[in-house]
Amino acid sequence: MKVTVVGAGAVGATCADNIARSAVCQELVLLDIKEGLAEGKAQDMMQTAALLGFDTRISGSTNDYSKTAGSDVVVITSGLPRKPGMTREELIGTNAGIVKGVCENILKFSPDAIIIVISNPMDTMTYLALQSTGLPKHRIIGMGGTLDSSRFKYQLSSHLGCSPADLNAVVIGGHGDTTMIPLIRFATWNSLPVTQFLSAEQQEKVVADTMVGGATLTKLIGTSAWYAPGAAGAALVKSILNDEKKLFTCCVKLDGEYGQEDICLGVPVTIGRHGWEKILPMDLNEAEKALFAKSADAVRSMNDVLKTL
Ligand code: LAC
Repeated sequence: MKVTVVGAGAVGATCADNIARSAVCQELVLLDIKEGLAEGKAQDMMQTAALLGFDTRISGSTNDYSKTAGSDVVVITSGLPRKPGMTREELIGTNAGIVKGVCENILKFSPDAIIIVISNPMDTMTYLALQSTGLPKHRIIGMGGTLDSSRFKYQLSSHLGCSPADLNAVVIGGHGDTTMIPLIRFATWNSLPVTQFLSAEQQEKVVADTMVGGATLTKLIGTSAWYAPGAAGAALVKSILNDEKKLFTCCVKLDGEYGQEDICLGVPVTIGRHGWEKILPMDLNEAEKALFAKSADAVRSMNDVLKTL
């Protein structure tokens, strides 16, 4: 198996590092436009192989896509990250051109690849990847909800004083500070509803803190986060290559599911060898349905910006 990670910045490198550690592929290529960056980080990671005991061969390339040939999965992290005070949406003009170009180059050498999109604004970049490549919808996966659901579990665990791994919780909708929908009503602590243990105020705080999870980190760090975004991308790669059919929230093309079409938005899906395989329905109440529709409206108007570029 072969995986390419495009973009050797903090998110791409962390994603590659996690993929190598999970030993799911024989070959891993890190690619970046900045001269030497991908080669350097790939070599640095390879120098952990003896310590960590993995056998994945990692190589770096400065924009030579022929090195990525025959990849089974490609993770796209390219583009500008957020600066403090910036929304993900403000990146659209710059990142659209970058993501479109990356998709074209990738498919020249890996026509059968499954593509995972991490670049922001993630919902619109996923839609762009789908529109510009014309690939079957199951092969284009936006990572956002996987990350946001993990951040949701972190927030819940800190209030419950429990292990985040014991929690089941999903964030659906867009991957934006105002478009994501942490579904606390469905969240469970090993099958016990978390709402049983949290006051209304605590629940509100968990939801609000989850929604600004990325922005909070951007303010603290000075640029956008990378450990959780990288790990989320790697978890999807692992589920694809091992055909795990794990349930993640991912941004995928909707054709009537959740009342939406002609849009890519976060919903629960299974991830396996064919990409995203099944969209799971949820029994949303009227308020949650309204939030989902509002989120779709916001993402749709962001997608409309693509027409003006
Ligand atoms: C974040 C970026 C990766 O949420 O979208 O941290």
